Amino acid sequence: MMTRHIFLIGMPGSGKSSLGKKVASNLRLPYVDMDARIQETLGGTVTEIFERYGEEAFRTAETNTLIHLTRETPSIVSTGGGTVLRELNRTIMQNHGFIILVDRPLQEIKGDIKLDRRPLLAAKGLDEVDRLYEARIDIYRAVADRVLDNSRGYFAGVDGMERIIRSLFASI
Ligand code: S3P
Repeated sequence: MMTRHIFLIGMPGSGKSSLGKKVASNLRLPYVDMDARIQETLGGTVTEIFERYGEEAFRTAETNTLIHLTRETPSIVSTGGGTVLRELNRTIMQNHGFIILVDRPLQEIKGDIKLDRRPLLAAKGLDEVDRLYEARIDIYRAVADRVLDNSRGYFAGVDGMERIIRSLFASI
């Protein structure tokens, strides 16, 4: 029985959503993608939400989504790469779940990341991946309960994430 949420944090393109979705299905756990929730709630794509309402409004939507999640069945939750930036978001995640940092080499991220659905990167190009990493890595590491090394491909990543989750909850 999973008694708390699992929050997946990490850089855009690190594998939070692809691994989270697969592991949730393998372990028969509910899965929540925060970007997808916010898109449903506010309407439109993340890029359109940034254009229409601005980044701060998007960050507030992330906070609201986390608050809602505190009343929901424990799930595997893929956060957005910037969700950890707000202290309140970090506190909610720490109080209501375990936080797993999905850690993938920047060269690999830059090799296959889709820029079109990522407004912060689409505007500034791939160098922005390095800048975001520098600005965020200390926060990611400080807030993470576990680090998943996602440098050995999709299947190793799925396997590694399942192992971490099983180690956190005895009976999964
Ligand atoms: C963001 C990452 C995106 C999305 C938004 C902002 C960020 O999610 O939440 O574009 O600040 O890094 P992914 O990490 O799934 O790309």
